[in-house]
Amino acid sequence: MIIVQAIDALREELKSWRKTGETIAFVPTMGNLHAGHIALVKRAQELGSKVVVSIFVNPTQFDRKEDLAAYPRTLAEDCAKLQAGGADLVFTPTPALMYPGGGLATKVEVPGVSELLEGASRPGHFTGVSTVVCKLFHLVQPDVAVFGEKDFQQLMLIRQMVRDLDMDILIEGLPTVREADGLAMSSRNGYLTTAERKIAPGFHLTLGEVVDALHKGRQDYAALQAEAAQTLVALGFRPDYVEIRRALDLLPPAANDTDLVILGSAWLGKARLIDNIPLTLK
Ligand code: PAJ
Repeated sequence: MIIVQAIDALREELKSWRKTGETIAFVPTMGNLHAGHIALVKRAQELGSKVVVSIFVNPTQFDRKEDLAAYPRTLAEDCAKLQAGGADLVFTPTPALMYPGGGLATKVEVPGVSELLEGASRPGHFTGVSTVVCKLFHLVQPDVAVFGEKDFQQLMLIRQMVRDLDMDILIEGLPTVREADGLAMSSRNGYLTTAERKIAPGFHLTLGEVVDALHKGRQDYAALQAEAAQTLVALGFRPDYVEIRRALDLLPPAANDTDLVILGSAWLGKARLIDNIPLTLK
């Protein structure tokens, strides 16, 4: 496995691969890798002959400075996991390489999907994501890129950007990888105390109760959302939102919509957790 920090070195390596007909599958990450990330790497191995992973804690997508400073940086452990997981190249640029002079004049905005839910709660977050992913796509020029459904809205944003800008990249989404008790794996779980960690699976369980109610035919979405938020408060969370949306465009569903997703965000102690469950009604 090759570890590359410089842009020139990355381009040189990728050029030599393309000359010999390799196809490139790409997994962008911010590091502090867990089994969810490694599942993306394994899928990438099936989709391309070479797997490139980027590790870059992207400052422009953090809406709170403290969060950026506290984000866990664990490069040595990450590289060991990627080596074991079968990555071929790890790209680890510095902020100065990605944002020379401290920032960019050009930004990639995806209005609509970037303004809802997470976008409404975290101003500027999705512009940071779409801009950095666009840059990474230009640097790596992958045939396929793999993202997690854990960040459902992010995956939707990337698909929209790729469609709108005619990027010749196949976007593959992978279901959320969970701990045995149902908690979605996340770097932010590391912020939970032992007591909070015991409460945390209640988040996924509560979203699951909404799914069950929908399968039973309930269509009073606002009441279901409010009940779920109340349950979360009773468990010790500070919910930001629980929303039943159409999977297609994340807008509120009409009565005949069958492809839905329950999305939630809730604070537990110092951690802001997000999770979602897609479902199809019969
Ligand atoms: P990061 O949070 O490191 O996540 C990298 C990728 O791993 C994303 O596609 C995310 O959806 C996926 N992922 C995280 N937890 C997962 C889980 N439990 N199951 C399945 N997939 C999971 O998302 C980002 O970084 C950044 O926004 C990035 C796209 C790299 C741009 O900076």
